[in-house]
Amino acid sequence: MRPSTLLWAFASGVLGASWIAPGAVWYDTSGAKIDAHGGGVFKRGDTFYWIGHAAANQTPMLYSSPDLINWTNLGAQASSVTGMWRPKIAKPNGSFWLFGQQDRYVLSLKSANFVGGYSQSAKVYIPPNSYSYSDTGMFYDDSTQTYYLLTSADHNIVQVNRINSDGTLGDKVSDLRAGAYEAPGIVKADGVYFLIVSGKTGWRSNPNKVFWATSINGPWTGGSDIAPAAENTYGSQNTFELTVAGSQKTTYVYMGDAWDSKGGASSNYVWAPMNINAGAHTVTIDYHSMWKVDVKTGVVSYPSTLKRYEAEHAVLSGRTVVKECGGCVSKRSVHGVGDASEVTFHNVTGTGSRQWLSFHYQVNNPEVGEAHIYVNDEPAINISSLNSRAGYHTSTPVQLTLKAGDVNTITFGATGAEGFEVSVDGIELFEEDE
Ligand SMILES: *[C@@H]1O[C@H](CO)[C@@H](O)[C@H](O)[C@H]1NC(C)=O
Ligand SMILES: *[C@@H]1O[C@H](CO)[C@@H](O)[C@H](O)[C@H]1NC(C)=O
Ligand SMILES: *[C@@H]1O[C@H](CO)[C@@H](O)[C@H](O)[C@H]1NC(C)=O
Ligand SMILES: *[C@@H]1O[C@H](CO)[C@@H](O)[C@H](O)[C@H]1NC(C)=O
Repeated sequence: MRPSTLLWAFASGVLGASWIAPGAVWYDTSGAKIDAHGGGVFKRGDTFYWIGHAAANQTPMLYSSPDLINWTNLGAQASSVTGMWRPKIAKPNGSFWLFGQQDRYVLSLKSANFVGGYSQSAKVYIPPNSYSYSDTGMFYDDSTQTYYLLTSADHNIVQVNRINSDGTLGDKVSDLRAGAYEAPGIVKADGVYFLIVSGKTGWRSNPNKVFWATSINGPWTGGSDIAPAAENTYGSQNTFELTVAGSQKTTYVYMGDAWDSKGGASSNYVWAPMNINAGAHTVTIDYHSMWKVDVKTGVVSYPSTLKRYEAEHAVLSGRTVVKECGGCVSKRSVHGVGDASEVTFHNVTGTGSRQWLSFHYQVNNPEVGEAHIYVNDEPAINISSLNSRAGYHTSTPVQLTLKAGDVNTITFGATGAEGFEVSVDGIELFEEDE
């Protein structure tokens, strides 16, 4: 693509929200950070609705989107309800229902409208055992029957309950008694049901597992990892699985939360396509740092590079040194990046509005230091505040607002404990294919 075409694409303003980037801060159409944690996605007509809890007070928040990328905030849904974790939409029938967890009870809310006006319908322990329940999920089986997924807080049982046709919580149909699991979600592919759960490690991520059954009535067997164990589910915890049944392909989407250390406002989201092999009973996350699914065809695509700024061609200071790098595009990268040892990229192209760019760098241990950037000499921003995956992946997409034109200066530095090492490969801008 020629630079003039590039500027046209930037000027049209579509670039800012064109990709799903796991772990990055995602913004709604008003420019605010999306605040819908422990959530789920429900399709109604051609529109996707994302319900989740607000980080500050766990009130249910609803967003809508035509494409799973561009989300409009429809606001808080139940003005008087707070402390309701992991809300999910139940399949509506006459009236509309949200289910979630409050004080380890199952809380159900009801409204006469799909958007807004929800208030408490019931708050119940599950009979007959009076177990207390924590993380909850929802599964829409072929759009005919909805199931509510519960995790007992005290008995390590994940169970599947029918939602009755009147919207109330119905009987248990199956359960999983295989260890300490929570955060359940179910996806069905080629007639096989897959139950995805996380371990119980608080806000810290762990290797999430998949169990399978040929009936929603169980029995559930298995327990394999959905990602390489060392990745801890790419720093996330399961919340929901979405099926995008397109004209060419059905794409199954893993939706997880990248919690901060307290499940607070800086928590982000990790969404990725899943590879499902129904015959082998395996589900694995197909991780990409940026991707999207065409919701009409179901086809997944990835951005192609428009422009790269190589670190070894940038202005280097302090103890930085250029070294060979087998995995780098230009086969070279800049090592020794630190506080007074920086890489300054000049003339970076900006749109004047929010845009994606990706930092390509590696650290030896993301637990003991931070990479940061200065954009046009503004105060330092830790890259981890723009993307929870910072330091854990060689490509870290972030959204920044740069000045329009080839006029931006981005300086890359790092701060860390003794022995923290950062090497910078470059910065990448992406081609828009709208
Ligand atoms: C986002 O979606 C709305 C409709 O929901 C549309 O009006 C708007 O143009 C979209 N914006 C982008 C950047 O795609
Ligand atoms: C909807 O709920 C009503 C009870 O409120 C019930 O009679 C009816 O069968 C339900 N319809 C469906 C499609 O589940
Ligand atoms: C930035 O671009 C200007 C012209 O647009 C050029 O004169 C200058 O040398 C460039 N700076 C760097 C560091 O490449
Ligand atoms: C960035 O990270 C460093 C090192 O972890 C920390 O000391 C500093 O407070 C952080 N800065 C901001 C603005 O959060």
